[in-house]
Amino acid sequence: MSVARMLTGDRPTGRLHLGHYVGSIANRVRLHQRYESFFIIADLHMLTTRNTREDIERVAGNAREMVTDVLAAGVDPARATFYLQSAIPEVGDLNTLLQNLVTVPRLERVPSLKDMARDSGKEEMPYGLLGYPVLQAADILCVKGQVVPVGRDNAAHVEVTREIARRFNNLYGPVFPIPELIQADTPSLVGTDGAAKMSKSRGNTILLSDDAATVRRKVMGMYTDPNRVRADVPGRVEGNPVFAYHDVFNPDRAQVEDLKERYRGGRVGDVEVKEKLAVALNRFLDPIRERRARIEDDRGLVDQLIVEGTERTRREVRQTVTEVRRAMGLTSAYTQVRRRAERAGRAVAGSR
Ligand code: TRP
Repeated sequence: MSVARMLTGDRPTGRLHLGHYVGSIANRVRLHQRYESFFIIADLHMLTTRNTREDIERVAGNAREMVTDVLAAGVDPARATFYLQSAIPEVGDLNTLLQNLVTVPRLERVPSLKDMARDSGKEEMPYGLLGYPVLQAADILCVKGQVVPVGRDNAAHVEVTREIARRFNNLYGPVFPIPELIQADTPSLVGTDGAAKMSKSRGNTILLSDDAATVRRKVMGMYTDPNRVRADVPGRVEGNPVFAYHDVFNPDRAQVEDLKERYRGGRVGDVEVKEKLAVALNRFLDPIRERRARIEDDRGLVDQLIVEGTERTRREVRQTVTEVRRAMGLTSAYTQVRRRAERAGRAVAGSR
């Protein structure tokens, strides 16, 4: 048996932030060495909520930044294949072939789609957005992915993929492995505003590419316990984003416990808690910054990785699509018609 394949990735909508890190990048960094790893730059998925010309013009730049961020976070370029989804039209072919293996009511029950429709200001669900999980199934199955590390909001998409794969195999024969979801163990990271999960559209992010001064400024402006008007007022640790980040990013557990205790007792100011968080976050981000600087010095590296990865993936996808068409009997339908045309002496020039 060859090594199992992992597929993961993001839509190219902007730079990656700490929420991405906690939700999936950390898992990817940990897992990518163990598998044959593919990283999709899912620009066709981006179109389901952002499809203006300006959005599309930014894809190339965003793709480059995203790959840079993933490499800076610790993915080894020698062990990962990056590819641009829209450059592989055969993914769309597979999407077409898979879309009858799932029902509309099933897709309507996928919670993330309603959220995405709402967040993008759409009143009614675009057809493509309803099909988002089917296209994702095409992505995963076109490289016969077996392991899919994604954030929580993507769990239902992987479940739909499993259903489609099973259904395909039952109907047409065993073509696809049933992919496995690998979910982050940390729940999604709250934004700096404490109101919702970290997301670019809410402007409550800390980016993997933020410099130390920016991180510090963002941390000092973070939402904390609003009832705490003075340092001697006992504060709430639970649901406080400053402590949520301490829990995830500050490896000095003793310090975190001490801060929590003094916070609850009204014996520490918000400023000290935030200062220490800024230090912890910058320590966490420093190695990422160093790797980023090296990647950025290596001119053309990222573009080359995307080009080579896309070509390699396209070869894989073509093979899978051929196999799928054969398993479904679609190739033989056309062959029959062509043979009959030939027998009748009406074969067209150029037919293969
Ligand atoms: N849905 C993912 C996101 O939230 C992107 C994506 C598209 C993906 N196809 C995928 C992730 C296949 C893992 C596997 O941005």
